[in-house]
Amino acid sequence: MKKILFGLTSAAILTLSLAVQASPIKLKFSHVVAENTPKGQMANKFKALVDERLKGKVEVEIYPNGQLFGDNKVLEALLLGDVQLASPSLSKFKKYTKKLQIFDLPFLFNDMAAAERFQQSPEGQALLKTVEKKGLIGLGYMHNGMKQLSASKPLHVPADAKGLKFRIMSSDVLAKQFEAVGATPLKKPYSEVFTLLQTKAIDGQENTWSNIRSKKFYEVQPYITSSDHGLLDYMVVTSAEFWNGLPDDVRTELKKALDEAVAFGNKVAAEKAMSDKQAIIDSKRTTVIELKPEERAKWVAAMKPVWDDFKDIVGEDNLKAAIDANKE
Ligand code: LMR
Repeated sequence: MKKILFGLTSAAILTLSLAVQASPIKLKFSHVVAENTPKGQMANKFKALVDERLKGKVEVEIYPNGQLFGDNKVLEALLLGDVQLASPSLSKFKKYTKKLQIFDLPFLFNDMAAAERFQQSPEGQALLKTVEKKGLIGLGYMHNGMKQLSASKPLHVPADAKGLKFRIMSSDVLAKQFEAVGATPLKKPYSEVFTLLQTKAIDGQENTWSNIRSKKFYEVQPYITSSDHGLLDYMVVTSAEFWNGLPDDVRTELKKALDEAVAFGNKVAAEKAMSDKQAIIDSKRTTVIELKPEERAKWVAAMKPVWDDFKDIVGEDNLKAAIDANKE
């Protein structure tokens, strides 16, 4: 190296070192949803903040709609260094930690405020760390919202779901939840859901209002039951290798930008849970069913026993903290 530098003029050395300094850190953020969703908006906000504050130091590229990786591959891609940031649903971490399955338990949280309280509790924050032994770093939670049930027939009570095939995310809790009402769960990637519904290869699915709207599931599902039966939230995640390898000042700025972007995305999530539901009703392409209290009680009675199968896996203390989060 000395020999090479010796042959260069000081001006050339300066140019060389400036060129080295000038090469920005590339940060690819891959996700599966549309850009006009809470997560899509959060990702775009994060890029805008980084472009403004870390210009020339960090270059963010956003890949929405699963165009780079689906959620079944993205965590592996993070560990291989093919992407640097992702935000899969909490239902998709089974290979990395079983504890996050707590978030899939049906009828666990009464509303999004309860989910937020649990996520910010010491138990919720400790759950972020459960992916660390696999080389991942959980940078925080992000909301989407409560899931609804859509189907080819009206679902008022659990017996209506009997014998139907439902697409689920890759979660054993969700599989048990549908088995508990006599339905058949099928683990399928998000990118395939529309076609599976359109071709009637499956009868139904569960998702949030913003996902049902942005991916047009309501156009191929004649009925949506406003069930709020489960949570669909995310973990923003990176790899320890990438994150710990960043210069301290850059890491601090990125975390700050991310926290701001998540706060923005959470606001979008709260708004969209209402406005996307209304837009779907207004479209008249589907019928939205509101459950009577006694009908809802039947779904709770049918699905809640699933908790028993998972309480040891997710930890009784965590479960207690999650239940307690329903109290203000
Ligand atoms: C799904 O697969 O249904 C969701 O996880 C998609 C998402 O990221 O919101």
